[in-house]
Amino acid sequence: MLRLKCESNAGWAPAAVADLDTLLIDHVHCEKKAASTALSLINRYPEKTLLVDHMIVHAQEELEHFALVLGYLKERGTGLRRDSADPYVNQLLEHARRNEPQRLLDSLIVAALIEARSCERFQLLVDALPPGDLRDLFDGLMPSEARHFTMFLTLAREYFAAEEVERRLEEYTVIEAGIVRGLRDEPRMHG
Ligand SMILES: [Fe+2]
Ligand SMILES: [Fe+2]
Repeated sequence: MLRLKCESNAGWAPAAVADLDTLLIDHVHCEKKAASTALSLINRYPEKTLLVDHMIVHAQEELEHFALVLGYLKERGTGLRRDSADPYVNQLLEHARRNEPQRLLDSLIVAALIEARSCERFQLLVDALPPGDLRDLFDGLMPSEARHFTMFLTLAREYFAAEEVERRLEEYTVIEAGIVRGLRDEPRMHG
């Protein structure tokens, strides 16, 4: 249902679980960046009312996730550090087309795939972690990421023909799988 063409590398979940503080710091920045992407879509496409309405709700929800994960970090006594480059997202964006209207389609597909990969990785974390607060956190966030994946694709089909969305999604899932296979196993949500 998430359309991903490969699972995360087998070494990713053990690396993530071995350094949960670093994972959570990266994760909290991902939530913030998701909210920020929603706002930048509003900035770029103010005339697209349906998109704007969805992005208002989305930005709010992702900012709530940011606050939630930040709460877990504080509880662990871990301070927030500056964000570092996200090789996964940067590589995905390298393939995005620069001219409209293709730029919008690629932005929506990239956002959908980031949500799908997060969802897959939350499940891996739930499987790898012992029962407890952190496992509950990832388990609780998983349904939202699946819903966000669907929401971005539904929006894409609102503004583009279904066949065009399907064709580009198919191309991008192949690109995404290649990027994921090439990632080092690091305690990050994506990179
Ligand atoms: Fe989120
Ligand atoms: Fe999300």
